[in-house]
Amino acid sequence: MRFDDYFANAMVRARDVKFPRPGHHPNQGTVGQMSMHKKKRVTVPDFVEMKSAGHKITVLTAYDYTMASLLDSTDVEAILVGDSMSMVVQGHSNTLPVTLDETIYHAEMVGRAVEHALVIVDIPFPYCFLDSPKVIESAGRILKETRCQAVKLESGADMADVIGTLVSAGIPVMAHVGLRPQNVHVIGGFKVQRDQDQLMQDALAAEKAGAFSIVLECIPARIARDITMAVEIPTIGIGAGVDCDGQVLVVNDMLGLTSDKLPQHAKAYADLKTTITDAAIRFRNDVRGGMFPSDEQTFE
Ligand code: KIV
Repeated sequence: MRFDDYFANAMVRARDVKFPRPGHHPNQGTVGQMSMHKKKRVTVPDFVEMKSAGHKITVLTAYDYTMASLLDSTDVEAILVGDSMSMVVQGHSNTLPVTLDETIYHAEMVGRAVEHALVIVDIPFPYCFLDSPKVIESAGRILKETRCQAVKLESGADMADVIGTLVSAGIPVMAHVGLRPQNVHVIGGFKVQRDQDQLMQDALAAEKAGAFSIVLECIPARIARDITMAVEIPTIGIGAGVDCDGQVLVVNDMLGLTSDKLPQHAKAYADLKTTITDAAIRFRNDVRGGMFPSDEQTFE
């Protein structure tokens, strides 16, 4: 389905769908305040429609069942099974090593947990460079085997034909423009991308090819703002300023779990590294001191 069709469907749905508004949603507070009501699943057209509805979109990554259920309960609009798992789950120095089978293994856990958010899965390196039947087969496996709804492809004008091929096969595509970490060896590191003409061309080509949304990674805020105004599909920023239609963070960064220095574009909203190591130290001390298990954890 091309973007025109997504958009037409979204306009029809928009009459019936009420998107949560900042300040008015019961689930905007802490976990303790969460509603028990079953929520409607966010679809691709719903996601697209959020842009014209002026609803800022929140996206977080997740890689397993427990984290995905917790994040889903907070009403974020989308969860991304990012190839960042190669770094934050598997401990590699870049996103290249993670395989399609490993991606599917993690996406399955996330897909099993999520009831509300749109779930998007990164196509790992280098599957999008295979010929059309193989790209469709790889992306198709993700949708068939994981209950996830869309794929993300590090792509701009150079990959417009791949986006078009997937979309015509019924596989919704989120494009990814700017810093494309799968290109790390070509660009010589994780660097801010500043070629205004190229970035605009990439975003417009991705939209024209049928992408339903575009991640803008590590580009100057003014270029991200211009792209956001130029395209009708939502832009999701990471290191791209406040004017994108939404923002995405790697969950490990957001929770303060990242062991290395936090990237400049990220913000830690918790310090789970300290919480987890403190808990482990207290447990270790209890074991060494004979205080665990106590009578409470012991069977007669
Ligand atoms: O892999 C990932 O987590 C991503 C986000 C940072 C956008 O691509």
